[in-house]
Amino acid sequence: MITKHDFGALADGSRVHSYLLQHKSGISLRILELGGAIMELCVPDRNGRFTNVVASYDSLADYLLDTTYFGALIGRVANRIAKGKYEIDGREYSAFINNGPSSLHGGRIGFSHRLWTVEPRDGEDPALILTLHSPDGEEGYPGNLDVTVTYTLTADAVSIRYEAVTDQRTPVNLTNHAYFNLGGYASGSILGHTLRLDADRFLPTDADLIPTGELRAVEGTPFDFRTPKTIGRDFDLAYPELALAGGYDHCLCFTAGETETPVLRAEAFEPISGRVMQVLTNQPCVQLYAGNFLKDPAHPLSGGYPQTPQSAFCLETQKMPDALHHAHFDNILLSPGERYDYTTVYRFSVS
Ligand code: BGC
Repeated sequence: MITKHDFGALADGSRVHSYLLQHKSGISLRILELGGAIMELCVPDRNGRFTNVVASYDSLADYLLDTTYFGALIGRVANRIAKGKYEIDGREYSAFINNGPSSLHGGRIGFSHRLWTVEPRDGEDPALILTLHSPDGEEGYPGNLDVTVTYTLTADAVSIRYEAVTDQRTPVNLTNHAYFNLGGYASGSILGHTLRLDADRFLPTDADLIPTGELRAVEGTPFDFRTPKTIGRDFDLAYPELALAGGYDHCLCFTAGETETPVLRAEAFEPISGRVMQVLTNQPCVQLYAGNFLKDPAHPLSGGYPQTPQSAFCLETQKMPDALHHAHFDNILLSPGERYDYTTVYRFSVS
């Protein structure tokens, strides 16, 4: 079942809505037209109690002023572009600088802060089809880009399919920025969650969180999640890479790289609730972000719960950050005639 709800108005008077998708299995998902953001994802614990496991805000004003990107769709280019400058076919382009010396998550008004067109598709597995037209030159990016994101709620999972086409060669790297806490979004630290990630390399960064260009083996580092361990076990801010970023805020590269269809790449487990989240994707990488910058007292989470560092984590499936500056990184350029098409599934169970 899908229901539509009013969530306030923009300065120009246009109304913003949220859509609540409820599956007969009991799980539910709420999506906001602004940024196509996941506002609520309620899944059961081992005693059948449903809780929202993603961070969100209560008011539209918070979403508009937001720099956390709670649950939002990110584009055209997820993560940072060093100095915002890049070249395609000998021509220089500039993306808006909005994070220190870098362009972050699409620039001044990324896809996270745009109103998407939403088409509900009710049925056994309710779905929303979100579309966005990003005109040539928007945020400095070349080419008209047409993006379609499909959220489908199945009995135990949320699937997100990202598709895009362009009429000029342009960078595209899309993701979703949901902040998870499997104990419930207001249940405190995520450092006790167990995490497994099938990633054998990670990208060290500089102090501006720009990858240095090195692909380093995770072996013997805090980034080795190939065997499950708690996120907190090696969360040691004395370790140089973690010190620079204030915690985990790094791209990890899946051992098997990009695949044709989504495969299981990550699994998180919260021992008190028993909730398990599996991440399946065909993307080559994931940004593991431990919510280190969640500390803005002006924008509390839903219910007035204060922002607290490491109270939620993101597993943002994507291609490598700042790939435009490194020939040996993933190709994030989309050409006319090609179709960008990736899917990530967040699947829930209990243990
Ligand atoms: C980045 C962080 C950033 C956060 C929110 C993440 O994807 O890796 O460095 O602070 O998004 O903006």
